[in-house]
Amino acid sequence: MTCLFKRFCNNIVCTLFLICVVTVSVANAKPAAFLQDFQITWSDSHITQFDGGRAIRLLLDQNSGCGFSSRNKYLFGRVSMKIKLIPGDSAGTVTAFYMNSDTDQIRDELDFEFLGNRSGQPYSVQTNVYAYGKGDREQRINLWFDPAADFHTYSILWNHQHVVFYVDEVPIRVYKNNEAKGIPFPKMQPMGVYSTLWEADDWATRGGLEKIDWNKAPFYAYYKDFDIEGCIIPGSTTCTSNPSNWWEGVTYQHLDPAAARLYRWVRMNHMVYDYCTDRRRNPVIPPECMAGI
Ligand SMILES: *[C@@H]1O[C@H](CO)[C@@H](O)[C@H](O)[C@H]1NC(C)=O
Repeated sequence: MTCLFKRFCNNIVCTLFLICVVTVSVANAKPAAFLQDFQITWSDSHITQFDGGRAIRLLLDQNSGCGFSSRNKYLFGRVSMKIKLIPGDSAGTVTAFYMNSDTDQIRDELDFEFLGNRSGQPYSVQTNVYAYGKGDREQRINLWFDPAADFHTYSILWNHQHVVFYVDEVPIRVYKNNEAKGIPFPKMQPMGVYSTLWEADDWATRGGLEKIDWNKAPFYAYYKDFDIEGCIIPGSTTCTSNPSNWWEGVTYQHLDPAAARLYRWVRMNHMVYDYCTDRRRNPVIPPECMAGI
């Protein structure tokens, strides 16, 4: 478009028009304010907004953790945010970012859980997928960067074909829709977006061996660039079946070859736990883990 304008715009009116266009698109590109899409659900006093409400800080101390949730529920779409995790000694802390249908017995849930560690030891990222009340699908990777040194983007893409968990642009987990093979896939229940920071030193770090060191408190995690795009439920009745939703587009239905390579690289080099290969827990290989599925 810019080229077109360069060719045709040589007068002052066009210049002004161009300035307008640029200003408007910059305004639109501004990330949403936290309170636009989210609300605090646990311990107001432990969540601080800054940068005009476009970023927040979560605090964990001996009194409390804290949490927030989206105002709406969504059926398919993509949610992403930038998070900078607790630096230094974060052992025993868990920072979670997840989607949940809030329907106890039949809940659908897509989890990112960042498990803290002692100074210098790697954070683990645990993911889990619940479909119709059945979870127990944990996988863990250790990150290839220090997630407390800077902000990184964590996102969940959810469409009719699959659920993909991304760290920056790297897919770290794919849960395919294999309903045709009798494997449950979350697609009926809308889900809210949640995040919490809390203490879980009975299991989080080295299986609970490493305890939280309250001398290092308070613990802080930072969030910004909140972005949710999806079908709001209740809402338009046709949204979820509209094939022109970008998250249902061809390029989002499968990992492209470059993304598939990155995904293989993560699994070969950074995966530290996979329920699919845990024979003690799963003597029978769960059907969704079978090769080729
Ligand atoms: C913490 O560090 C230990 C030692 O490097 C490692 O085995 C473990 O996977 C790391 N993550 C967690 C959450 O325990």
